[in-house]
Amino acid sequence: MLNDVKSVLVSEEEIKEIVQRLGRQITEDYKDKNLYLITVLKGAVIFLSDLMRAIKCPCEVDFMVVSSYGAGVKSSGNVKIVKDIDIPLEDKDVLIVEDILDSGLTLNFLMDMLQNRNPKSMAICTLLDKPSRRACDVHAKYIGRQVPDEFVVGYGLDYDEKYRNLPFIGILKPEVYTK
Ligand code: IMP
Ligand code: MG
Repeated sequence: MLNDVKSVLVSEEEIKEIVQRLGRQITEDYKDKNLYLITVLKGAVIFLSDLMRAIKCPCEVDFMVVSSYGAGVKSSGNVKIVKDIDIPLEDKDVLIVEDILDSGLTLNFLMDMLQNRNPKSMAICTLLDKPSRRACDVHAKYIGRQVPDEFVVGYGLDYDEKYRNLPFIGILKPEVYTK
């Protein structure tokens, strides 16, 4: 598995610092609100589990499953809801927790859909941001860090469902996904 990684982009140490910083910011901003974390499975689940323990105000969590990639490395823009949230959002301050904001097509679709349910507020927290690849107008309020236009894996992020268990974020060797 390690042989498929070209280099480490975000170390375990740096991930910890990022998570603590985001946790502090979110705690400050949501201490008097009704924080409702919505996480998109599966990529963001490791980030969520660390982030929620760095958040020191009350919060709830829920999960959605969407699919837009299949086994490829590019978003198809064709977002399918596989598992939805089934409670009303009117009294919730929704924070969508994502692993990576790439083209933005997935989150753009999700934001539109959830906005129709009139949450009290809605924002995005993403661990990684690849701004060079943005194909639509979507912004995250909380960003762990920006990354270059490379395909990354680890800490929840996959290629073809693998590499999620790497404890750091690494750049995948292009020959792995071009062969
Ligand atoms: P978007 O719709 O293009 O923004 O795609 C977002 C989703 O694509 C993320 O939640 C990831 O699941 C996946 N994705 C985008 N870039 C990468 C990457 O570099 N590595 C692993 N997954 C990625
Ligand atoms: Mg994925």
